[in-house]
Order: sequence, then structure tokens, then C-alpha cells
Amino acid sequence: MGINNSQLAGQPQATVGSTDDNAKAVVKPRHPESRLQSDWLFLYEKLPSNQWYSSDYAYKTSGWLNVHTNIRKRQRILKQLTEEHLMGALNWENYRSQVLQRISMHVLKLHQHHSVEDRGFFPEFVSSYPQLKRGFEILENDHVKLDALLDELLGLNDELAKAEQEDKFLVERLHKNLVAGTDFLSQHLTDEEDLVVPILGLRDG
Ligand SMILES: [Fe+2]
Ligand SMILES: [Fe+2]
Repeated sequence: MGINNSQLAGQPQATVGSTDDNAKAVVKPRHPESRLQSDWLFLYEKLPSNQWYSSDYAYKTSGWLNVHTNIRKRQRILKQLTEEHLMGALNWENYRSQVLQRISMHVLKLHQHHSVEDRGFFPEFVSSYPQLKRGFEILENDHVKLDALLDELLGLNDELAKAEQEDKFLVERLHKNLVAGTDFLSQHLTDEEDLVVPILGLRDG
């Protein structure tokens, strides 16, 4: 199956394919490299992503989705600024002044978000839907893997704070980290939304 731009961007979209010999409709997760099993998508089937922002559900789903939008945006800006510097469009002082605080804030907010999920929301969701336990374990494990990337990013940011002289090798390492983080976050956030947002939208209240 081909990948469209909306899927790559993690935009809300219903993805229903007809795959088997009986032409039975199968609901598919949105990310092309999703780890989600189709039998974990029974709630997504009831509330596909093209309904997440509708008036019936947005008051319950938009808070979570907005947090993820902001995470994607901060990550994208950091990667773009780094690429601008590498291309010569942003000088060393401007680059440093624009990214030092942004990286600190981005890492802090990601840790806070993961902590709230691991300690509060995910256990609550698993107790409501024990059949999704394995899915939430994958997401928790993602947080551990992301911690390693974020630790490296903070270390590189510390080097950047001390670097008075332009250091192309340092910026290349920052870029490599930000590209890896962008790819990982795309997969993690999209899989998480496919599991979590239908729970939020379909529950009372
Ligand atoms: Fe998460
Ligand atoms: Fe999240």
C-alpha cells in the first residue's frame, strides 16, 4: 500500500484497507512502520482519525492532540534551524541563541509529558482495556529509548553552550540526533494517538 503525505505528517486520517481474499475491511494504523496489531484497533475502528476533531469529540481529544502537535512543531523548528546553519543561512551566534533555550525547554517538556503518561494515563487505560496492555508496553518502552536520545541531545546542547568558536562537527552531531528524534517521535506519537485518542473520545465525559 502506498504512503500519502497525510500519513507521513501524522495527520488525522481514516486508513481502511481491503486486504484479504474475502475482501474484508481491515483497519490499519496510520504510521507506515506502526507496531500496532490490528486487533488493538477496535476503538480506532469506532472512532477513526477523521472524526477526532469533530464537534462530538474534539472537546475530549484535542488536548492530547495539541500537546503532540506542539512536540512535533518544536522538534521540526530545531531541525530546521540546524539545517539553516549547516547551509550557511544562519550564523553561529544566531544559531546558538535560537536553539540553546529551545532544546532545554523541549527536553524538559517531553520528560514531563512521558512521566504523566507512564505514571498516570497509561496504567489507567490498561486497567480499562487490559487487551491493550502490550500496546502500552511498546509505548512505555519507546519513552525509555527516547530518553537516550534526549540525554544525548542535552549533552550536545551543553557542548554548544560552551562552544565560543564555530564547531561544524558538533552541529552535524546535533543534526543527526534531531533527525533520529524526528523519525522516532513520528512513529511513537502516531501509534500513541491511534491507541489513546479513541479511548479519550469514546469515554464518558
Ligand atoms: Fe508517549
Ligand atoms: Fe504523548
